[in-house]
Amino acid sequence: MASSVVLAGSRLPRHIGIIMDGNGRWAQRKNLLRTQGHLEGLKSAKKIVKAASDLHIPFLTLYVFSTENWKRTAEEVGFIMGLVKQHLKAELDFYRENRIRIRHTGDIQGLPPDIARELEEAGEDTRSFEGLQVILALNYGGRDAIVRAVRRWLASCEKEPGEKPLPATVTEEAIRRFLDNPDIPDPDLIIRTGGEYRTSNFLLWEGAYAEYYFSELLWPDWTEGDLRSALAAYQERERRFGGRKP
Ligand code: IPE
Ligand code: IPE
Ligand code: MG
Repeated sequence: MASSVVLAGSRLPRHIGIIMDGNGRWAQRKNLLRTQGHLEGLKSAKKIVKAASDLHIPFLTLYVFSTENWKRTAEEVGFIMGLVKQHLKAELDFYRENRIRIRHTGDIQGLPPDIARELEEAGEDTRSFEGLQVILALNYGGRDAIVRAVRRWLASCEKEPGEKPLPATVTEEAIRRFLDNPDIPDPDLIIRTGGEYRTSNFLLWEGAYAEYYFSELLWPDWTEGDLRSALAAYQERERRFGGRKP
């Protein structure tokens, strides 16, 4: 059984990213509204957060809502935003019990003010927790994240008269410093459920050397056993980072 896969404590990823895809199709296959799929998807997300916490994974980034997802109907967008808000309000005890810290990545200014406030409060309330860090990618786009980093850099230069970014100072490290969460290590493993084989604008910069794992299962059907299978597959990978086999 997948959940009985033995995972050596070592060689577990430090940072996992998940593209939680397939909520709508899950609902449609059951003749339910797409919104019902998002509700079930949230339940999966909570189970996977608990499993990652129990496995002592340090960082988990969940792709909740992309900068492209605004193209959906107002009803669906409103429902997802409402779910996020309600979840953050209701689950503080769960996060406290498990010492889980909540963070955000994405354009917070483009979110409805009540959602932005809720994210900031959840971040504040869990800031001191030393367990798993869950990064909610909400109004997130990989390209947008790079654009915002460059804008932050330019703004920081403007504050210091005479400071101009010179071509020689435009380095990977310089750009990285201005990303949303520069302290978080790059993802080692990016999982996508729902049987699609694309990044959909997720962690473009940080995921440069991530291992990818694709699952045919729709996100609401994902379980801890599936996470364990993904981790077992990850442990079989040989990461070379452009170098040669040691
Ligand atoms: C993922 O499920 C959740 C979000 C993108 C918000 P989808 O809603 O994309 O589900 P499918 O891909 O249509 O099945
Ligand atoms: C990616 O899924 C975004 C999230 C899971 C939040 P989408 O369903 O939006 O991606 P596409 O449209 O299939 O590329
Ligand atoms: Mg989708």
